[in-house]
Amino acid sequence: MHKIKVNLKERGYDILIGKGIVSGSRTLKDLVAGRRCLVITDSNVSKIYGLSVLRTLKNAGAESEIIPFKAGESSKNLETYGKLLRQACRAGLDRSSLIVALGGGVPGDVAGFVAASYMRGLNFIQIPTTLLAMVDSSVGGKTGIDLPEGKNLVGAFWQPSLVLIDPTVLTTLPKREIRCGLAEVVKYGIIMDEKFFSFLEKNLNGIKRMEQKTYGEIIARCCELKAKVVCADERETTGLRAILNYGHTFGHAVETVTEYGKYAHGEAVSIGMCMAANLAVLNHKFAPEMAMRQFDLLNALGLPTTLDSGIKPAQIYKAMFKDKKVANGKLRLVLPDRIGKVSIVKDAKPEDVMRAIEEVVV
Ligand code: NAD
Ligand code: GLY
Repeated sequence: MHKIKVNLKERGYDILIGKGIVSGSRTLKDLVAGRRCLVITDSNVSKIYGLSVLRTLKNAGAESEIIPFKAGESSKNLETYGKLLRQACRAGLDRSSLIVALGGGVPGDVAGFVAASYMRGLNFIQIPTTLLAMVDSSVGGKTGIDLPEGKNLVGAFWQPSLVLIDPTVLTTLPKREIRCGLAEVVKYGIIMDEKFFSFLEKNLNGIKRMEQKTYGEIIARCCELKAKVVCADERETTGLRAILNYGHTFGHAVETVTEYGKYAHGEAVSIGMCMAANLAVLNHKFAPEMAMRQFDLLNALGLPTTLDSGIKPAQIYKAMFKDKKVANGKLRLVLPDRIGKVSIVKDAKPEDVMRAIEEVVV
């Protein structure tokens, strides 16, 4: 079992990682005994894990009910949020009750936002079931929903009271979702930890074979790294937390131009990291051999590293300016100096950015 402490000024919490951790956690019992819990999840996860989580909560002394909504990003909206608030009311939740977010980043973000806002804030527990949610969205307290005008436009910083991660649930996750989570995993290596990057290179077989031990170690290291960033810049005020967006400005533009149909988010982030690495090489900071190592690792993990021709680099470039991180019409890009260290670059030359994109189009 791995235990990671998120030491925030106001309210810290534990991340517990291990097989059977959801039913075996004493911390869970301490939090929920004698309280009402509302488990918010999606329609897929509810079928596979809903019953066992309800059983666990009952054994821990809580009175619980579960509310599933239709799986998928399209449910991360005002309508689902409104319905859940009213269901919380009908379930008789009061300020001593808890919300349990069970699922990937979508249930995590929506349930977290319900917890942040219902009766001005309830405690909540994250039980992430996708690799992306385990290594990223369940840690750090960003909660929210999308508007028709854009993704994640409404939300709150609201930290969970506990994060419980059982990597064995990844056995039911579709392979494409695993690969998408792996793009975020590689990201941590590039932005913060060369040793971890080498670990991924050396453990390709274990990763591909879905070895429990390897995934336990990967998830634990990513959570440690994310906790470190979040503790240093909880509300994204100093700019440090922005390093978690490595590859994302390019990646979001790829998603926009391909109308969210061709590439899943993690796949677009993989392509985006290749563009960012190219730009860093053009800026004379990142050694070409290091860009090659990143390219090789992403390829070996089955992630896309090129864009189909037919997509015009100029469209990607234009779409990059819609990013939330654009300030005063200027791009702010996270670029690697070396594997394990990145900088925020605000003065990249437009012709270099274009060239970095062009190099990825085949
Ligand atoms: P998701 O929650 O939609 O899950 C992906 C799919 O996997 C869904 O169909 C789901 O039903 C299914 N699923 C989940 N766990 C499963 C399991 N163990 N077995 C079988 N199927 C399972 O998507 P996601 O990729 O986990 O998260 C994406 C969302 O996360 C986006 O909305 C993004 O904005 C958000 N996000 C938030 C943060 C943050 O810091 N809050 C960070 C990154 C991403
Ligand atoms: N996933 C980016 C963040 O949590 O800040």
